[in-house]
Amino acid sequence: MSKELYHIPVLLHEVIRYLNPAPGKRYIDATLGGGGHCEALLQAGAVVLGIDRDPEALAHAREHLKEYLEARPGPNNLRTDNLKNAPGRVLTLIKGDFGQLTELALPTGFKSVDGILFDFGVSSHQLEDPSRGFSFKAKALLDMRMDPEGQKVTAADLINKLPENDIAEIIKNYGQEHRAFQLAHAIVRARGLSPITTTEQLAAIVVRNRPRSKGDKIHPATRTFQALRIAVNWELESIAKALEAVPGLVQSKGVFVAISFHSLEDRLVKNFLKNNKEIMEIITKKPITPTDLEIKTNPKSRSAKLRVAIKK
Ligand SMILES: C[S@@+](CC[C@H](N)C(=O)[O-])C[C@H]1O[C@@H](n2cnc3c(N)ncnc32)[C@H](O)[C@@H]1O
Repeated sequence: MSKELYHIPVLLHEVIRYLNPAPGKRYIDATLGGGGHCEALLQAGAVVLGIDRDPEALAHAREHLKEYLEARPGPNNLRTDNLKNAPGRVLTLIKGDFGQLTELALPTGFKSVDGILFDFGVSSHQLEDPSRGFSFKAKALLDMRMDPEGQKVTAADLINKLPENDIAEIIKNYGQEHRAFQLAHAIVRARGLSPITTTEQLAAIVVRNRPRSKGDKIHPATRTFQALRIAVNWELESIAKALEAVPGLVQSKGVFVAISFHSLEDRLVKNFLKNNKEIMEIITKKPITPTDLEIKTNPKSRSAKLRVAIKK
């Protein structure tokens, strides 16, 4: 699959401008996805540790970034200061949850890096591949695991096994859905008749029980599906843990860049920066958002918010 079909990197120019890659500089891309941001760093001569919890993202990167996996930093490129345990490659790929960022980065020699990038959420590939069960638009088993090899609990497990109140809390807290309790009740009633196993079944239950109001720009099932995805992948817990690890991994003058796609992610980033003002200088007083042109060419970028800080 082509890179563009897998995922179009969001705010690419802005991300690269702030990270400012150059030969020998070292970065952690904690959300490799389709590898678009990572490739731009590599093209500038940087050395990158790419992390993703999704085995398909890593397989795609291994194929598309093959030349970098085989390359070694040139003599002028190699910084030996903290590369003691590093394999000395231009690109190192690791499968893992960025919630364990320090544990993933340190054994590969990536400490005191020049920058860390987070591009939260799911890739277009994850969203659009019916076998992954993330979207109400594709008929599929209700799965939503980012790491189907390592994670046991699917969205169908949550929907069919959790008590009504827990389902309501998930939909309310992670979907910011004001009809959460009504929807949870409808889900529990429906699963009493037959298990809810497909995206189509769940979307139909939501549509029947959450009439679209006039002002609604999004599909009625959007918030419920977002909520389940966050719960299945404990996304907010991982983000909170990863942010805590940032100051310990970035060197002085190193750059932290995070792209969020909804207010729950952005709030965690904002609070992290607010609580670490002594260590991190905030560069973007207001988040940077995509231009009209970017939104036109890649509508999925429309809710992106980029925040940048530099370690003092
Ligand atoms: C929006 S995509 C990143 C796209 C990428 N920047 C690009 O240029 O193609 C987000 C990626 O982060 C990964 N991801 C999400 N949560 C993760 C976590 N806790 N640990 C590791 N990877 C995660 C997803 O599997 C997905 O591939």
